[in-house]
Amino acid sequence: MEIQFLRIARLGTLAFWGLILMPLHQALAQEVGDHQYTSQAIEAGSQVYTQQCALCHGPQGDLVDGINLSIGQFRTVQSDTDLRQVISEGAAQGRMPAFTLRAEEMNGVIAFIRAGFDPEGVAVRIGDPIRGKMLFEGAGQCADCHRVGGVGPRTAPDLSNIGAIRTPASLQRNILDPATALLPINRSVRLVTRFEETIVGRRLNEDTYTVQVIDSQERLRSLKKIDLVSYEISDEPSKQPTTMSSDEVADVIGYLLTLRGLE
Ligand code: HEC
Ligand code: HEC
Repeated sequence: MEIQFLRIARLGTLAFWGLILMPLHQALAQEVGDHQYTSQAIEAGSQVYTQQCALCHGPQGDLVDGINLSIGQFRTVQSDTDLRQVISEGAAQGRMPAFTLRAEEMNGVIAFIRAGFDPEGVAVRIGDPIRGKMLFEGAGQCADCHRVGGVGPRTAPDLSNIGAIRTPASLQRNILDPATALLPINRSVRLVTRFEETIVGRRLNEDTYTVQVIDSQERLRSLKKIDLVSYEISDEPSKQPTTMSSDEVADVIGYLLTLRGLE
């Protein structure tokens, strides 16, 4: 009797998990898919590129002066919309002609450029930096924790130069899945001193004898390790994955990539 009851309970649990896991799994797959271009698009774009663009831009994308398409170095282009516009309207008084491409070809060549010319690469969608800035400061709540250009709190990493030091894929991962994007240098710490003070904060620097942290009140603290009774480094990210839509995430990434000041 008891065994049978257990089995029913198990089955019940399985059915329950099956129900909520399947849509969740599909939703996640779709999430990532929406945020980046598919590998088929990249593949298709590689052919368009070879046929239509390589003549001037070269096989590595670096033959036109001051432009390197494979590493995202452009003259005026920032977002994917800008790319689309340059390709369909041409540039430099006709030195680059206007192209009439089918939607898949256009999508593909943008994907190929965003994948860094790597057919196995990840091609993150890059949206509008102006909308991205508004989201960063508003609905996305990023500015509640992050500092940019000398404005904002110091408890989370300063993002003033983040566009120069991180790839679009790394920025995207941080927004969609902060737990897997956590870098050793950014982990939060919890210290207890022998004077019975507990300090929770972000580690800035550390050497053999001391550790410097920004505490939760944004004070810079330098502590001697000899004064510490415990020193824990967190494995947990400080935030949840975003609830923004994939278009909004693309815009925020577009904005982050423009942050190249050395604050
Ligand atoms: C006939 C030569 C030629 C061809 C073919 C060509 N381009 Fe260009 N492209 C140029 C030149 C020249 C510039 C530099 C414009 C300037 O100096 O502002 C340029 C600039 C660009 C830029 C940078 C624009 C900016 O303002 O940031 C992008 C992106 C680009 N091309 C993509 C492409 C793609 C994708 C293709 C193929 C669909 C292509 N080009 C085909 C000549 C060409
Ligand atoms: C609750 C506070 C908080 C919010 C809100 C927040 N972040 Fe963060 N973020 C952090 C902290 C703290 C870290 C350091 C890693 C950690 O502890 O999770 C971090 C790390 C990052 C990094 C990685 C920095 C590096 O060195 O690579 C990026 C990029 C980033 N956040 C962007 C964003 C964006 C964009 C948003 C808004 C969509 C956002 N964050 C919202 C607290 C926050």
